[in-house]
Amino acid sequence: MHALDPASPAGALDAARDDALAAIAAAADLDALVALRPAVLGDRSPVALARRGLGSLPGPDRAEAGRRVNAVVTALTAAYDARRAVLQDERDARVLVEEAVDVTALPGRLPVGARHPLTTVQERAVDAFVAMGWEVAEGPEVEHEWFNFDALNFPKDHPAREMQDTLFVAPEGSGLVLRTHTSPVQVRTLLSRELPVHVVAPGRVYRADALDATHSPVFAQLEGLCVDEGITMAHLRGTLDAFAVAMFGPGMRTRLRPSFFPFTEPSAELDLQCFHCLGRSAEPGGEPCRVCSSEGWIEVGGCGMVNPAVLVAAGVDPERYSGFAFGMGLDRTLMFRHGATDIRDFYEGDQRFTLPFGLEA
Ligand code: FA5
Repeated sequence: MHALDPASPAGALDAARDDALAAIAAAADLDALVALRPAVLGDRSPVALARRGLGSLPGPDRAEAGRRVNAVVTALTAAYDARRAVLQDERDARVLVEEAVDVTALPGRLPVGARHPLTTVQERAVDAFVAMGWEVAEGPEVEHEWFNFDALNFPKDHPAREMQDTLFVAPEGSGLVLRTHTSPVQVRTLLSRELPVHVVAPGRVYRADALDATHSPVFAQLEGLCVDEGITMAHLRGTLDAFAVAMFGPGMRTRLRPSFFPFTEPSAELDLQCFHCLGRSAEPGGEPCRVCSSEGWIEVGGCGMVNPAVLVAAGVDPERYSGFAFGMGLDRTLMFRHGATDIRDFYEGDQRFTLPFGLEA
């Protein structure tokens, strides 16, 4: 911008004014215009300096020079204000567009989650027992070996206590394991509740099994325990049949096959009638069934009469009381129930797998 001598000819004053007007007109936005202000109208601007120099001019020249300087200041101030008004209008119009809110727009839908199928099957199973007057019991997943093995009558050299079957908790000799089944809850229940007891205990269990289509190192079991005076195998049978009907529908039956568990005597494998073919595939001339491999039955767990040694370990008099217990694998039951072919799907957390289950009532 030209320095302006108040006594300089009108052409120089006009040139300085035109420079300033051009700069004002060229300011692209409000920030640029505000930044320009000191140079065109500020204390050290050419017109301000010219006005300050007026005092040193002789009287007659001073009045004339003063009028010219004032006219330039007036013109620049008007141009500045006009440009600012234009730029403000432009900014307001832009903000209105950029920050517009469409109050009529529909809100975006939040994706709805799904309850895990193991949670729903567990709840349904527990509900079936609660409807029969049973209570729910719990135990820790990091369990003491005494509850997991000793109190359940596992001999010291039982293979289940080996590293290849059981996940031990560090440090070595801590006496802690990740519970390999829900059966330790039997002992905890007998030690902490008044008799008689009728409890179910759902929960996660851990084994040093390799992950494949039908095995998982973590899976869910449902334990059941009934201890009272005069309990027999017939009570076990009747309870399991009532449970099968509640879970899978009228007419559903169970089958017990002789087996062995250290904590039950006698012991049995618990089979459910195949819900798909209702056992017909195993009859002569029956259609083959892919769910039960035409066996007619599906193995879901173990059961038996509580071994008196377990009652003694839990401080219960086996002369007076007897009981039955069962433990079912919920994952495999669910796989059969829904035709899922790979247990890994239950643990991968993919909603495309769990969503259809989540819609279950
Ligand atoms: C037991 O765990 C006993 N505690 C059951 C029991 C309780 C018997 C009370 C008597 C009285 P078992 O090791 O067979 O038994 O396991 C029971 C069920 O868990 C099996 O039938 C199977 O359905 C399931 N299961 C076992 N290992 C796995 C695994 N790695 N992945 C998924 N499910 C499994």
